[in-house]
Amino acid sequence: MYRKIKAQDLRPGMYVVDVGLSWLENPYLYMTEGVLADEEAVGRVLSEGYEEAVIDLRRCLEGSVPDDLAELEPLTDAEHVSRAVSATADSPVSAVAQRVPVAQEMLAAKAIYSESITFVRGFMEGAREGRPVDLKAAEPLVEDIIQSVSRNAGALIGFAKLRAYDLYTYTHSLNVSLLAVAFGKYLGLDTVALRQIGLAGLFHDLGKALIPDFILNCPGRLTPEEFSVMKRHPVLGRDVLPGGGRIPDMVLEGMLQHHEKFNGTGYPAGLKGDAISEAGRIIAVVDVYDALTSKRPYKNAMLPNKALSILYSMAGEEFYPGYVEHFIKCIGIYPVGQIVRLNTGQVGVVSATDPAVPLRPEVIVVRDPLGRPAPPRLIRLADVISVSVTETLEAAHAGIDAARVLQDGAAS
Ligand SMILES: [Fe+2]
Ligand SMILES: [Fe+2]
Repeated sequence: MYRKIKAQDLRPGMYVVDVGLSWLENPYLYMTEGVLADEEAVGRVLSEGYEEAVIDLRRCLEGSVPDDLAELEPLTDAEHVSRAVSATADSPVSAVAQRVPVAQEMLAAKAIYSESITFVRGFMEGAREGRPVDLKAAEPLVEDIIQSVSRNAGALIGFAKLRAYDLYTYTHSLNVSLLAVAFGKYLGLDTVALRQIGLAGLFHDLGKALIPDFILNCPGRLTPEEFSVMKRHPVLGRDVLPGGGRIPDMVLEGMLQHHEKFNGTGYPAGLKGDAISEAGRIIAVVDVYDALTSKRPYKNAMLPNKALSILYSMAGEEFYPGYVEHFIKCIGIYPVGQIVRLNTGQVGVVSATDPAVPLRPEVIVVRDPLGRPAPPRLIRLADVISVSVTETLEAAHAGIDAARVLQDGAAS
């Protein structure tokens, strides 16, 4: 399991993890993976100006981790996250919507996703060319997202991670929007607030359209001057939206505050604690989750259970207390669309999750224990206690098309 620590607390023998976040937005997070060999290696990290690092407690050498950080028992990411969230109070959450089966919602989710991508692309490119951004035009799309999430949140969330698109700037804005809607619904936001949080997600990085290309496409670490330009993207985004006074509060807050951190070390305003609005808290969590689980030119997509574990290592300090835990309950430790191996040797696709039993989702089995294609069959792990998930597998494992499996459904 992971811990995010201050760079000055790094010690020789600690195993530092490359979480694969963008250097553009996280220039002070040390992300070169491996064991820090000696004091000199630690000194180098500090002298290069890094302020934080994520360490993997399971891979740190013995004696390198102080007692207050060390874990008593080695747990898998999933077990670790599950324990963390089961210790969290349940209120004020409402149930994750599964009013219709995921198979029934997949086609609608697919259509909403591709239509929205075209829209996001349009307004981002427009902003870049100086054309005004029409917030109103996004409202019907956000309405469609809310409706789909209300019917079955897993379909759109699953589809977002299984898509074949690779235009990160656009998919990221859309994913943040739909994850924010799903999370907002889980937290009990009313319809008006859901519309605003959906718009906030869609437009949260609008200001990036105005950041010069040489910074956005910078292959290495930004200089402090370049980073200070990058840090202006939340404010630039607000300035691009027409009619300051008519923009709903949550949209503005989500845009302006998605890089603020609970401990006050974020940007652009360095807000702290309760000064960060609910929209800011929600977008911050889903923004990092989507960044971690997205494929980029310089890294593969991180498996959700690892991403959730990394996110959890930042809870409290970075994110408003309780929000990471609730988000994990909302999307599930094994989210819809995740390919998993069971202790029977069978392989399948998660088709539904239950916050009450996060380690026991519903799985559509499509491979037998010998890895041969099998007729799709639904297993509800909550009902079959002898069967459990042993491993999460990369998307497209063994040629499995998870989106197709979800769409086709299975016999119970
Ligand atoms: Fe951002
Ligand atoms: Fe973002």
